[in-house]
Amino acid sequence: MKTHHFGSSHHDIEQAAQILADGGLVAIPTETVYGLGADALSDQAVAKIYEAKGRPSFNPLISHMASPAMARNYVEWSEAAERLSNAFWPGPMTLILPAKQDCAISQLVRAGLPSVAIRVPAHPVAQTLLSKLGRPVAAPSANPSGKISPTTIDHVIAGLDGRIDAVVDGRACEIGVESTIISLLDDPVILRPGNITIEEVRAVLGTDIKTLTDADTITSPGQLTSHYAPNASVRLNATEFGADEKSLGFGEIGGDLNLSPTADLREATANLFSMLHELDSRAGSKIAVAPIPKHGLGIAINDRLRRAAAPRS
Ligand code: TXA
Ligand code: MG
Repeated sequence: MKTHHFGSSHHDIEQAAQILADGGLVAIPTETVYGLGADALSDQAVAKIYEAKGRPSFNPLISHMASPAMARNYVEWSEAAERLSNAFWPGPMTLILPAKQDCAISQLVRAGLPSVAIRVPAHPVAQTLLSKLGRPVAAPSANPSGKISPTTIDHVIAGLDGRIDAVVDGRACEIGVESTIISLLDDPVILRPGNITIEEVRAVLGTDIKTLTDADTITSPGQLTSHYAPNASVRLNATEFGADEKSLGFGEIGGDLNLSPTADLREATANLFSMLHELDSRAGSKIAVAPIPKHGLGIAINDRLRRAAAPRS
């Protein structure tokens, strides 16, 4: 299959929306990472996502919506959902909510669960495309399963060229790590840390909120321990680097590449996946990464780094 490249003109986005309406696969930019989209209401279209990514079928997908109003057609809404959506949508937050009885989202998207993951992305290309299409788009990150998430169109093409119908270029993703996932099925709990921090969520809800610990990973089936893995091995919290190591620095700890020479966690988040992609493409089989502070956005960065360094299954 030839993968078509679209720009971000209205005409191009319209054609991309048509491919989705016809049941095709289109990689689309969001402000977090690129997503591999398919019509969330079509089993056939969604099946192609699993096939293209080589993704285990028990792993459910996020349904992307043009607006909170569209989301409410599919899930049971709640006071907490209202508060969080007012505060953070459109934006880098995913909510897990109970599916409505008549929810039309494909069972393949939900992987058979009685809940649905919903997100309203802020990226203008994603917004335009979702509004034109008028239906939800199921989209995991647009990378082969278990590999590093894509933050540029070049990453998408390197991983999936020839396996998907099209990519839409929306430039480099501003945020650079996947959305914060919050389950509202019971007491609110953060299933995956992201750009929106625990402190921000707590402030909006006005209550305490739990974070998923590694021991509980089963509640979020997608949180496989080895994930976001480069081809090279990854060593963490390195304060010195070996001669055979490709090094990723932070702040004063230099490195071949540096996530943020000024130790700015926002900059480091935006650079994380593209620098891992870059180091992975260079010669050598080992990557070592400097320590990253374990607060604020550093929590999401450390979460992704731990998975990149985890034993491969
Ligand atoms: O920023 C993002 O979230 C990106 C962009 C494309 O939106 N998407 C993304 O999708 O990271 P993916 O498939 O790589 O991660 C989705 C996560 C998985 O860990 C999955 O297990 C979890 O969401 N998930 C989906 N539905 C769920 C559900 N009903 N209950 C619990 N976890 C769910
Ligand atoms: Mg992913």
